Amino acid sequence: MLIVRKNLREMIMTIPEVLTKMIAFSDGNIHDIDHLIRVWTYAKTIGELENVDKETLFIIEAAAITHDIACPLCREKYGNTEGKYQEEEGKKLVRDFLSDTDMREDQIDRISFLVGHHHSLNDIDGIDYQILIEADYIANAIENSYEKKNIEKFISSIMETKSGIKLVKDIFMI
Ligand SMILES: [Fe+2]
Repeated sequence: MLIVRKNLREMIMTIPEVLTKMIAFSDGNIHDIDHLIRVWTYAKTIGELENVDKETLFIIEAAAITHDIACPLCREKYGNTEGKYQEEEGKKLVRDFLSDTDMREDQIDRISFLVGHHHSLNDIDGIDYQILIEADYIANAIENSYEKKNIEKFISSIMETKSGIKLVKDIFMI
Protein backbone atom coordinates (compact mmCIF):
# COMPACT_ATOMS: atom_id res chain seq x y z
CA MET A 1 0.00 0.00 0.00
CA LEU A 2 2.79 2.36 0.94
CA ILE A 3 4.57 1.63 -2.32
CA VAL A 4 1.41 2.27 -4.35
CA ARG A 5 0.86 5.62 -2.59
CA LYS A 6 4.47 6.59 -3.14
CA ASN A 7 4.21 5.79 -6.84
CA LEU A 8 1.00 7.77 -7.13
CA ARG A 9 2.61 10.72 -5.37
CA GLU A 10 5.54 10.59 -7.74
CA MET A 11 3.19 10.81 -10.71
CA ILE A 12 2.11 14.37 -10.20
CA MET A 13 2.21 17.35 -7.89
CA THR A 14 -1.13 17.70 -6.15
CA ILE A 15 -3.22 20.88 -6.07
CA PRO A 16 -2.71 21.35 -2.30
CA GLU A 17 1.04 21.15 -2.98
CA VAL A 18 0.77 23.82 -5.70
CA LEU A 19 -1.30 25.95 -3.31
CA THR A 20 1.13 25.70 -0.39
CA LYS A 21 4.08 26.39 -2.68
CA MET A 22 2.31 29.48 -4.04
CA ILE A 23 1.40 30.70 -0.54
CA ALA A 24 5.07 30.40 0.47
CA PHE A 25 6.03 32.30 -2.71
CA SER A 26 3.60 35.12 -1.78
CA ASP A 27 5.90 36.24 1.03
CA GLY A 28 3.19 37.00 3.58
CA ASN A 29 1.19 39.29 1.27
CA ILE A 30 -2.29 38.56 2.67
CA HIS A 31 -4.06 40.43 -0.13
CA ASP A 32 -2.35 38.31 -2.79
CA ILE A 33 -2.97 35.10 -0.84
CA ASP A 34 -6.66 35.90 -0.28
CA HIS A 35 -7.07 36.75 -3.96
CA LEU A 36 -5.51 33.56 -5.25
CA ILE A 37 -7.56 31.44 -2.85
CA ARG A 38 -10.73 33.23 -3.94
CA VAL A 39 -9.97 32.76 -7.65
CA TRP A 40 -9.04 29.11 -7.09
CA THR A 41 -12.27 28.44 -5.17
CA TYR A 42 -14.48 29.94 -7.88
CA ALA A 43 -12.49 28.32 -10.69
CA LYS A 44 -12.67 24.85 -9.09
CA THR A 45 -16.37 25.29 -8.33
CA ILE A 46 -17.23 26.39 -11.86
CA GLY A 47 -15.02 23.66 -13.37
CA GLU A 48 -16.69 20.92 -11.36
CA LEU A 49 -20.20 22.25 -12.03
CA GLU A 50 -19.42 22.42 -15.75
CA ASN A 51 -18.27 18.78 -15.59
CA VAL A 52 -14.84 19.36 -17.10
CA ASP A 53 -12.62 16.29 -17.19
CA LYS A 54 -10.07 15.62 -14.43
CA GLU A 55 -7.06 16.70 -16.47
CA THR A 56 -8.70 20.01 -17.45
CA LEU A 57 -9.75 20.63 -13.85
CA PHE A 58 -6.15 20.16 -12.73
CA ILE A 59 -4.95 22.76 -15.27
CA ILE A 60 -7.73 25.17 -14.25
CA GLU A 61 -6.89 24.88 -10.55
CA ALA A 62 -3.12 25.18 -11.03
CA ALA A 63 -3.55 28.20 -13.33
CA ALA A 64 -6.01 29.85 -10.93
CA ILE A 65 -3.58 29.46 -8.02
CA THR A 66 -0.59 30.81 -9.96
CA HIS A 67 -2.26 33.33 -12.32
CA ASP A 68 -1.01 36.45 -10.50
CA ILE A 69 2.47 35.09 -9.83
CA ALA A 70 4.07 38.15 -11.46
CA CYS A 71 2.33 40.75 -9.26
CA PRO A 72 5.19 41.18 -6.72
CA LEU A 73 7.79 41.37 -9.51
CA CYS A 74 5.71 43.89 -11.51
CA ARG A 75 5.19 46.11 -8.47
CA GLU A 76 8.93 46.23 -7.99
CA LYS A 77 10.04 46.39 -11.64
CA TYR A 78 7.32 48.62 -13.16
CA GLY A 79 5.69 50.21 -10.11
CA ASN A 80 2.31 48.72 -11.06
CA THR A 81 0.58 45.46 -11.93
CA GLU A 82 -0.71 46.39 -15.37
CA GLY A 83 -2.14 43.40 -17.23
CA LYS A 84 0.31 43.33 -20.13
CA TYR A 85 3.38 43.36 -17.85
CA GLN A 86 1.83 40.67 -15.68
CA GLU A 87 1.16 38.42 -18.64
CA GLU A 88 4.64 38.85 -20.06
CA GLU A 89 6.45 38.27 -16.77
CA GLY A 90 3.96 35.71 -15.44
CA LYS A 91 4.27 33.21 -18.27
CA LYS A 92 8.05 32.97 -17.66
CA LEU A 93 7.85 33.05 -13.86
CA VAL A 94 5.30 30.25 -13.65
CA ARG A 95 7.57 28.01 -15.76
CA ASP A 96 10.38 28.48 -13.24
CA PHE A 97 7.92 28.04 -10.37
CA LEU A 98 6.73 24.68 -11.73
CA SER A 99 10.07 23.50 -13.10
CA ASP A 100 11.00 21.50 -9.99
CA THR A 101 7.64 19.75 -9.91
CA ASP A 102 6.77 16.54 -11.67
CA MET A 103 4.20 18.11 -13.96
CA ARG A 104 4.38 17.13 -17.61
CA GLU A 105 5.78 19.60 -20.13
CA ASP A 106 2.41 19.96 -21.89
CA GLN A 107 0.73 20.78 -18.57
CA ILE A 108 3.33 23.45 -17.75
CA ASP A 109 2.94 24.82 -21.31
CA ARG A 110 -0.81 25.23 -20.91
CA ILE A 111 -0.59 26.74 -17.40
CA SER A 112 2.05 29.17 -18.65
CA PHE A 113 -0.15 30.07 -21.63
CA LEU A 114 -3.14 30.73 -19.33
CA VAL A 115 -1.10 32.83 -16.89
CA GLY A 116 0.29 34.71 -19.91
CA HIS A 117 -3.22 35.46 -21.21
CA HIS A 118 -5.35 36.00 -18.13
CA HIS A 119 -5.94 39.66 -18.96
CA SER A 120 -6.66 38.97 -22.65
CA LEU A 121 -10.37 38.61 -23.20
CA ASN A 122 -10.16 38.27 -26.99
CA ASP A 123 -8.10 35.11 -27.23
CA ILE A 124 -10.23 32.69 -25.18
CA ASP A 125 -9.59 29.30 -26.80
CA GLY A 126 -10.84 26.74 -24.30
CA ILE A 127 -12.97 26.00 -21.26
CA ASP A 128 -9.93 26.24 -18.94
CA TYR A 129 -9.18 29.76 -20.19
CA GLN A 130 -12.87 30.74 -20.04
CA ILE A 131 -13.23 29.57 -16.43
CA LEU A 132 -10.02 31.31 -15.30
CA ILE A 133 -11.28 34.61 -16.78
CA GLU A 134 -14.68 34.21 -15.10
CA ALA A 135 -13.24 33.28 -11.69
CA ASP A 136 -10.69 36.11 -11.72
CA TYR A 137 -13.40 38.58 -12.69
CA ILE A 138 -15.66 37.46 -9.83
CA ALA A 139 -12.81 37.85 -7.32
CA ASN A 140 -11.83 41.26 -8.69
CA ALA A 141 -15.44 42.46 -8.73
CA ILE A 142 -15.80 41.48 -5.07
CA GLU A 143 -12.46 42.95 -3.97
CA ASN A 144 -12.84 46.20 -5.92
CA SER A 145 -16.62 46.71 -5.57
CA TYR A 146 -17.34 46.86 -9.30
CA GLU A 147 -20.46 48.74 -10.36
CA LYS A 148 -23.51 46.71 -11.33
CA LYS A 149 -23.48 47.93 -14.94
CA ASN A 150 -19.83 46.79 -15.32
CA ILE A 151 -20.82 43.35 -14.03
CA GLU A 152 -23.87 43.15 -16.30
CA LYS A 153 -21.73 44.05 -19.31
CA PHE A 154 -19.20 41.36 -18.40
CA ILE A 155 -21.97 38.78 -18.08
CA SER A 156 -23.43 39.57 -21.49
CA SER A 157 -20.18 40.01 -23.41
CA ILE A 158 -17.66 37.61 -21.84
CA MET A 159 -19.27 35.02 -19.60
CA GLU A 160 -20.15 31.66 -21.14
CA THR A 161 -20.54 29.09 -18.39
CA LYS A 162 -23.97 28.52 -16.90
CA SER A 163 -22.59 28.03 -13.39
CA GLY A 164 -20.31 31.08 -13.58
CA ILE A 165 -23.23 33.27 -14.65
CA LYS A 166 -25.41 31.88 -11.86
CA LEU A 167 -22.67 32.52 -9.29
CA VAL A 168 -22.16 36.12 -10.40
CA LYS A 169 -25.89 36.81 -10.40
CA ASP A 170 -26.27 35.31 -6.94
CA ILE A 171 -23.26 37.13 -5.47
CA PHE A 172 -24.19 40.55 -6.82
CA MET A 173 -27.97 40.11 -6.63
CA ILE A 174 -28.45 40.74 -10.33
FE1 LIG B 1 -6.21 37.91 -10.41
